[in-house]
Amino acid sequence: MEPWVALVLLLILVASWSWWKMISSSSSCKSRRRSNCEQGDDEAAFPPAGAGAGAGWWWEWRETAWFVAEHGSGRGFYNFVQARYVGTNGSSSCCFRTALFGRVHVFVSAALPGASRVLASDPPHLAKRYARTAADLLGPHSILCCTSHSRHRLLRRALAPLFSLPSTAAFAASFDRRATARLLLAAPAPAGVLLALDAALEISYGAICEMLVAGDSKLAMLQGDVFAVTQAMLALPLRCLPGSRFRRGLHARKRITAAIRDDIIRTRNAPNDHDLLSVLMQRRQAGHPDALTDEQIEDNILTLIIAGQVTTATAITWMLKYLSDNPQIQDKLRAEALGLGLKGDYPLTLQHLNKMDYAYKAVKESLRMATIVSWFPRVALKDCQVAGFHIQKDWIINVDARALHYDPAVFHNPTVFDPSRFNDDEEGEEDGVKKGSAQQRRLLVFGAGGRTCLGMNLAKIMMLIFLHRLVTNFRWEMADDDPSLEKWAMFPRLKNGCPIVLTPINHS
Ligand code: HEM
Repeated sequence: MEPWVALVLLLILVASWSWWKMISSSSSCKSRRRSNCEQGDDEAAFPPAGAGAGAGWWWEWRETAWFVAEHGSGRGFYNFVQARYVGTNGSSSCCFRTALFGRVHVFVSAALPGASRVLASDPPHLAKRYARTAADLLGPHSILCCTSHSRHRLLRRALAPLFSLPSTAAFAASFDRRATARLLLAAPAPAGVLLALDAALEISYGAICEMLVAGDSKLAMLQGDVFAVTQAMLALPLRCLPGSRFRRGLHARKRITAAIRDDIIRTRNAPNDHDLLSVLMQRRQAGHPDALTDEQIEDNILTLIIAGQVTTATAITWMLKYLSDNPQIQDKLRAEALGLGLKGDYPLTLQHLNKMDYAYKAVKESLRMATIVSWFPRVALKDCQVAGFHIQKDWIINVDARALHYDPAVFHNPTVFDPSRFNDDEEGEEDGVKKGSAQQRRLLVFGAGGRTCLGMNLAKIMMLIFLHRLVTNFRWEMADDDPSLEKWAMFPRLKNGCPIVLTPINHS
């Protein structure tokens, strides 16, 4: 569906909803209409709410339409957030309140003391909360959207075998094989253009699927459906509207879960030792306490593909863009990679990756600057305080990692791509900003606490391997410098898919 059609439909929906709210002026709304300087019951201030907040339903309606418009523009949805940190009087704050799709949302920079405590393990007054659309598409048993602390712990334990050392080593080998084949054997003619996003999506999809369900699975053919599910995750929930993005995502989900169901039957009859599905099926047959049902397996295999593929592929494209903008850093990486002394057709192992010290810093710096997951949403289960602000029950608190990663008081010159900011030997302070490992500890790219990313090591491995294969064989620069972001994308990424011009390097 065209974005403008979606916007018109949204306006109609929100207008009807606003009208209903206006005529049923319930007491619960009153609290949302308080002005910036009001106090909560416990004397802590409410987060400031920007211009027009006193206008109640009209303000809520305008904020939602604005958010949707930014999401559908080439500027990306974070533009909406960033603009609201600056108050009407021009002063900037680290926390603000808005209203989106009928809910109060508070955005709080993770740099604020106390904000990261929201992410602590299993806080009794908070639960994870993703957009309803995301939860519908990933399924009721998905670990990513799970709100119950005890069910979440069970799912995390059940999925842990995927991240064991042997499984990680096998995954690295599989990703390396695919990256070598895609980047070297099928590389475009000298000085040809490679669409980095497509290559990264394809390689990561193949490797993640093989790790989850080895053998002859229909999943291998469903990359387009996985893409449709991700595109629908932040779409308007127009379930019944034929052709809507959300409906297309739901249909794609059906096809993917049907393929996984076939795999469950196949694996039940002939398990192997290599993939997650076999481990999960064997546990069930052995009556293991953490065994998962078929429905739990379906939702979580889909979740792992979605959580792992698009995020990492997007991170790889940003990394290539930053390195294209900084050819001297590209050269330094090349020198480190060639200095490893690997010759001929060598497979990369975890031991090799451990020696890529500067490359690892470049990966971390790319992840900081790209901040693929901009904020982490949680819902307040009762009235509470966050970073000194009063939060009411049912409000959504979004801990904003991007604000932290671009805070000059935490990361010196935050808009400059500088892997050496993570040098361990650079301790101390510069202009009051801590350096070296102190900066590393502030990184929040994979979340924190009980919901930390399960696949962060796999993500770093994929980025390191992709970088190594590229840097040891080519120089590259961007073929198109258009900075516009893709509309309606779940994670901020370049609209042009990061096309790079590859120039083979001479090893002799
Ligand atoms: C650069 C790539 C990646 C980034 C930036 C990333 C980021 C994140 C973040 C920030 C969270 C926590 C969200 C929150 O607390 O609200 C998360 C959770 C998660 N990630 Fe990743 N991720 C990446 C790659 C992967 C990979 C490769 C996998 C697995 C194949 C994966 C699986 C998961 C899962 C299962 C969760 C949910 C954990 C839980 O709720 O207990 N991620 N990811």
